[in-house]
Amino acid sequence: PIDPQFEENKEHVGEENGVDVWGPTDPPEELGIHGTHVAVDYDICVGDGACLEDCPVDVFTWVDTPDHPESEIKAEPTHEAQCIDCMLCVDVCPVDAIDVDPG
Ligand code: SF4
Ligand code: F3S
Repeated sequence: PIDPQFEENKEHVGEENGVDVWGPTDPPEELGIHGTHVAVDYDICVGDGACLEDCPVDVFTWVDTPDHPESEIKAEPTHEAQCIDCMLCVDVCPVDAIDVDPG
């Protein structure tokens, strides 16, 4: 599962699609964690899509990740500022790739 302490244990390496990226990263195989309030571990995400379907405020959008070993699409928490902390995405992700930190 995603490390809920990623902000301490990982390094902020940049931004993609307006979302913070926490590494190390080594694309295309290692993509790190995307997002902060709503965080998706791209190296765990298998592109299931339950988070996109169930989020009531449409936080997630698909991004293409060609040649990643787990899946060639990932859920980007593009609109994480809209999150209402319902925790649905955390519950439905089959591989525990998502961490939401109700601050
Ligand atoms: Fe969407 Fe709820 Fe997940 Fe926030 S916690 S991203 S509102 S499903
Ligand atoms: Fe990925 Fe889990 Fe969503 S596998 S697409 S973060 S439900």
